[in-house]
Amino acid sequence: MARREQSFICQNCGAAYGRWQGKCDACGEWNTIAEESSATARPQLPGRAPRKGRLFALEPLAGAAHDAPRLPSGIAEFDRVTGGGFVRGSVLLLGGDPGIGKSTLLIQVAAALARDKRRAVYISGEEAVAQVRLRAERLGLTGAQVELAAETSVEDIVATLGEGETPRLAIIDSIQTMWTDTVESAPGTVTQVRASAQALIRFAKRSGAAVILVGHVTKDGQIAGPRVVEHMVDAVLSFEGEGSHQFRILRAVKNRFGPTDEIGVFEMTGGGLREIANPSELFLSERDLGSPGTAVFAGIEGSRPLLVEIQALVAPTSLGTPRRAVVGWDQNRLSMVLAVLEAHCGVKLSGHDVYLNVAGGLRIQEPAADLAAAAALVSSLAHAPLPADAVYFGEVSLSGAIRPVTQAAARLKEAQKLGFGRAIAPEGGGEHGLALQSVTSLASLVADIAASVPIPKFANPRGTP
Ligand code: TYD
Ligand code: MG
Repeated sequence: MARREQSFICQNCGAAYGRWQGKCDACGEWNTIAEESSATARPQLPGRAPRKGRLFALEPLAGAAHDAPRLPSGIAEFDRVTGGGFVRGSVLLLGGDPGIGKSTLLIQVAAALARDKRRAVYISGEEAVAQVRLRAERLGLTGAQVELAAETSVEDIVATLGEGETPRLAIIDSIQTMWTDTVESAPGTVTQVRASAQALIRFAKRSGAAVILVGHVTKDGQIAGPRVVEHMVDAVLSFEGEGSHQFRILRAVKNRFGPTDEIGVFEMTGGGLREIANPSELFLSERDLGSPGTAVFAGIEGSRPLLVEIQALVAPTSLGTPRRAVVGWDQNRLSMVLAVLEAHCGVKLSGHDVYLNVAGGLRIQEPAADLAAAAALVSSLAHAPLPADAVYFGEVSLSGAIRPVTQAAARLKEAQKLGFGRAIAPEGGGEHGLALQSVTSLASLVADIAASVPIPKFANPRGTP
């Protein structure tokens, strides 16, 4: 039976169909399926005899590595996320919202390498050379020997990069603007993006240059169109940040050569991205001391402890269904903590709106934040400020027990370093200079907070003693 030509491709996820349809079965998106010529993408053209394979030499696993295995960029926060620098011949995909600072970060990385006398090439498919220069000028990088071009043809780029000394780093900004002659579709389509990425990946593997591809991200946080590219590259980094905040977080989503849970923290300033070596200080810089509803969470991002303030507001609702809004934390975990508070601690929240916010625009994924979130919620409800010198961490289980979490010692050490005097946390953690007030159940934490209220609830709505 002849194989059916599948030439309708979903532009969101890359699924292929034999005919057009309104909704993609694979990713559920509507109106994303477009016709693409797939015949040209096939290496074997119809009517031509199959090519006889060329023989190539197989090599032993043990062999001389040519170079230092890693090339650090010189920007410590960036190297931390990649796992210590660029691996020869590796391809990185950097995703992020438009305007988040991808181009700024990469021109800074390229300049740092160039200053180190390594050849770095920056190819922009979106901006003219003059625009890139203008940005470099603003960043004070005009002295760096970065080689620039505004190009979109992959064949031309590969040919140019292949000339002379191999660049150590080639930046392609962005992959969606690239096109290759080998396929007929328009630039930005899945077929084009995939074929262009393939050609650039081949170039990287062959030449040993590290290549960074910039990818745009859609509203729902996926790298637009070329989801397929994520599988092809060695590492996927995502550059995140809340629009109104200056912090930017670089996170490894996938990394064949390093950890995936490390984050790099930057601040966007008038002069470009500045590295933040001690993020805790930054996230705690604007603390609202003495007001109810805030708790300091001693968290861990990757291998690095990070202290951050969790803010809660619990207020009587005027709606039939009270609101539960959360920024920077998981909505489901909030629901769970609220349910445990109701079921095991006698805290009635069904008549209250609940808002929870992680200060500074950080996004927390750890369950260890449960206890801090619960403390902030109860503190807000009871109008009882929590002690200003305390940090909180611990996982709340459905039974209301507080579970130990990983790396307690590192959390305690960071809290001590930043001048905190006590930690409210589950048992354990080893040697530390903090007073550890261990809690075993959420109910006992609630009782402690309630006991600290000097005046009965609502008698003094300001909560000031
Ligand atoms: P850009 O790197 O162009 O973002 P992307 O490539 O991810 O689309 O960054 C654009 C934003 O960064 C723009 O809103 C201005 C801001 N910015 C600064 O605040 N300071 C700077 O020094 C630079 C270069 C940009
Ligand atoms: Mg850009």
